[in-house]
Amino acid sequence: MELIDGKAISEQVKKEIAQEVAQIIAKGGKQPHLAVIIVGHDGGSETYVAHKVKSCEQVGFKSTRIAFEEDITEEQLLSEIHKLNEDPDVDGFIVQLPLPKHLDEQKVIEAIDYRKDVDGFHPINVGRTNIGLPSFVSATPAGILELLKRYQIETDGKKVVIIGRSNIVGKPMASLLIQKGYPGNATVTICHSHTKNLKEVVREADIIIAAMGSPKFVTADMVKDGATVIDVGTTRVPDPSRKSGFRLTGDVDFENVAPKCAYITPVPGGVGPMTICSLLKNTLLAGKKAIYK
Ligand code: GUN
Repeated sequence: MELIDGKAISEQVKKEIAQEVAQIIAKGGKQPHLAVIIVGHDGGSETYVAHKVKSCEQVGFKSTRIAFEEDITEEQLLSEIHKLNEDPDVDGFIVQLPLPKHLDEQKVIEAIDYRKDVDGFHPINVGRTNIGLPSFVSATPAGILELLKRYQIETDGKKVVIIGRSNIVGKPMASLLIQKGYPGNATVTICHSHTKNLKEVVREADIIIAAMGSPKFVTADMVKDGATVIDVGTTRVPDPSRKSGFRLTGDVDFENVAPKCAYITPVPGGVGPMTICSLLKNTLLAGKKAIYK
C-alpha cells in the first residue's frame, strides 16, 4: 500500500506556481489577484478562507478578503459581486459557501462573471468542463486528477465508482474521468443514497472516490484488493482531546481499508491540501487570461 501524500504534492505544486509568478513579475507582468468574499462567521469557512489567503501569500499572489456580516442582503452581496466583476485588478474571486439561508447560492454563483469564476461553479464553466472545453474546473475534482497524475495511477479502461453526486465533487469528477485522454478514459459509476446494492457496486471498483460526507462509510468489505481509494470526506467529529474540540474524519474507514489498497489518501493530508492548489492554479490561469480573453 502506498499513501498518497497530498500535503507533499500540494507543497510541490505551490512551489511550481510561485516560480511561475516570479517569472511573470520579472518580465513586468501583473501579479495575480484573488479576492475572497466571506459572509458570517462559520468556523469551517473562516478556517478555509484563512488558508486560501495564506496560500496566496506563499505563491506571491495578491489577495483580498472581503468579509460581511450574516445579515447582508442579497442585493448588497450581488452589488459587491458586480464591483468585483468590473474591477480590472481582480483576476478571479470566489464567494465562500455555504451562505446564510436567506441568500440564494445559485443566484450568487451565476452573478459571478464566468471569466473570473476560479471556483468553477458557474454553469458556463460546469458546462464547458462537461464537454471537454478549456474551463475553470472545480477545485476538488481538479485536485484529485492532479494526485492521480503525480502518482501515475492508471485510469484508462478502469472501473471508477464515485460515491456522492454533489455538483462540486461527484458530478464534475465523473465528467472529467470519462473524458478522452489521461487521466480519463475510465468507466464511471456514480452511487448515491438511492443506489441499490451499493456495497456490491463499490466492490467492483478499481478506483473508489468517496465523497458523500459520511464518516467511515467505506468499510474494508466494500473494497477490492489492490484498489485505489480517494477519500474526499472532511466531517468534523467532536474530539475533546483536541484543542480545536474536533478532528477531521474521512468517508473511509482508513485503518481497515488501507491494508487492502494499492494507493489511498489519508484524511487529513490527502485531497484537502490539493483543493487550494487547484484554486491557485485557476487564479494563475485567470491572471494569464489563459482560458478566457
Ligand atoms: N465551501 C467548501 N468548499 C468550497 C469551495 O471550493 N469553494 C467555495 N466558494 N466554498 C466552498
